[in-house]
Amino acid sequence: MKTKSVKVGRNDPCPCGSGLKYKKCCLGKNGKETIDLEDVYAEKYGIRLKNLQDIEGIRRAGRLVLDTLDLVETKIKPGMTTDEINTLVHEFTIKKGATPAPLNYRGFPKSVCVSVNEVVCHGIPGGRKLNDGDIVNVDITSILNGYFADANKTFLLGTSGPEARKIVNVTKECLKRGISMVKPGNTIGDIGWAIQDFAEGKGCSVVREFVGHGVGFEFHESPQVPHFGQKGQGIQLIPGMVFTVEPMINLGNKELRILEDNWTAVTKDGSLSAQFEQTVLVTNNGYESLTPYDL
Ligand code: MF3
Ligand code: CO
Ligand code: CO
Repeated sequence: MKTKSVKVGRNDPCPCGSGLKYKKCCLGKNGKETIDLEDVYAEKYGIRLKNLQDIEGIRRAGRLVLDTLDLVETKIKPGMTTDEINTLVHEFTIKKGATPAPLNYRGFPKSVCVSVNEVVCHGIPGGRKLNDGDIVNVDITSILNGYFADANKTFLLGTSGPEARKIVNVTKECLKRGISMVKPGNTIGDIGWAIQDFAEGKGCSVVREFVGHGVGFEFHESPQVPHFGQKGQGIQLIPGMVFTVEPMINLGNKELRILEDNWTAVTKDGSLSAQFEQTVLVTNNGYESLTPYDL
């Protein structure tokens, strides 16, 4: 998948993105007619492409993340505390020989993010009891054999109302539409555009402060993947890129605030917020989700 030495014609646009013809720009700098896109992406954007071995490693970490989400789905119910979700995730991850990436990440004190109702993301597990009708996002990142995979789902608890069902369904469809834009030649802006267009068309809003991100060697790598944007804008996708798409969509306004704990993000207007996330690979002709679940 790693794109080595892609042939670029003398009169083609230079892959470094200067806007100049290749012959007027990078051609000759390395004394060759070919250019290594891997080097261009690393130097220009800080993006580390993944090879087949890396991809298999992230895929295995991703399978564990999905198994952990499935475990949570079977156990989650009203009356439970968010800390009990943390214990489930932590113990299962360790039992499988992996490490929960959130624990102690930039001071985060727990092994998973659990974000209820008006909490947009980064909810810290604790004594909050889950209620019938709540929407609960569980965001899991596991490190297995040095590779990171990151995915989340928002669960509807018990008998949910029309608002809860709406924001969960709209957000799930946003992830589906965002991921469907992932293929070589499309841009990061195409992903954000597809998400924003759908969410706003349904009268919902897109959170700006948190974005998708490169992932695999580390928790958060380059590039950033906004869930809003314009068609054709931003970095072109090429095979071997691995990043998350993880739209946070609010039923009301897009504004948020951070609680005293310096982590928990909540909607300013108190409206419901949902999120779905997968880790995706750009392939030669489209994408492969490395944390695949039905959307
Ligand atoms: N999993 C989140 C993401 O999708 C990041 C959580 S950072 C933490 O990027 F420290 F809160 F875990
Ligand atoms: Co993420
Ligand atoms: Co995540």
